Amino acid sequence: MATLTWHGHSCFTLVTDEGKQILIDPWIDENPMSDIKTGDIEALDYILVSHGHSDHFADVVKLAKKTNATVISTFELVAFTQSQGAKNGHGMNIGGAYVFDFGRVKLTPALHTGSIDGDDGSHTTDPAGFLISLNGGQRIYHAGDTALIMDMQLLHGSVDVAILPIGDNFTMGPEDAARAVEMIEPEVVIPMHYNTFPVIEQNPEGFRTLVGDRAKVVILQPGESFTV
Ligand code: NI
Ligand code: MN
Repeated sequence: MATLTWHGHSCFTLVTDEGKQILIDPWIDENPMSDIKTGDIEALDYILVSHGHSDHFADVVKLAKKTNATVISTFELVAFTQSQGAKNGHGMNIGGAYVFDFGRVKLTPALHTGSIDGDDGSHTTDPAGFLISLNGGQRIYHAGDTALIMDMQLLHGSVDVAILPIGDNFTMGPEDAARAVEMIEPEVVIPMHYNTFPVIEQNPEGFRTLVGDRAKVVILQPGESFTV
């Protein structure tokens, strides 16, 4: 059994059947919804980063230096973390997959912007999502920050658990996220990227209603886990 724990916004810990510890989009210390602090994290094997905005990226370099975790992201963003002192990284690009010791990761398209907060402008990044196929067989899609895009149709049949933004304003809102569920047809959908700031306030129960019986909607509170 793998465990997915939400830390608010887009940040999740994924612990695999084999005990590998993977952190996705770590924005922790300044995240008003987070149930943890970076000081609580002692060991990590991998950090997956969807794009360079601070609400996904802020704690990447700090945690990579502390744990020596391998940063998995787009090529430019990994290069940036290494320029900041992160030791281990694996750069990829959209549409490419690679088999790691915990399973396969494919970078998926995300329609969004991608400046790196704190960068001098020498790096640009394309935002991505992740299709993670664990050795245990579980298939998890973390969409990152994205609009609804037709490319999501290509994920149909490949996803057990879809983690989708519903906050609107910066990403898909509930209606478009429900349309994404229609395209992808996952078994389970977990909403993210909402209620962190006033501008992305949403009632996740409204999203559940929009999804209807197309998928099981699992609404987590920060610190709660879902077993995949
Ligand atoms: Ni963003
Ligand atoms: Mn964001």
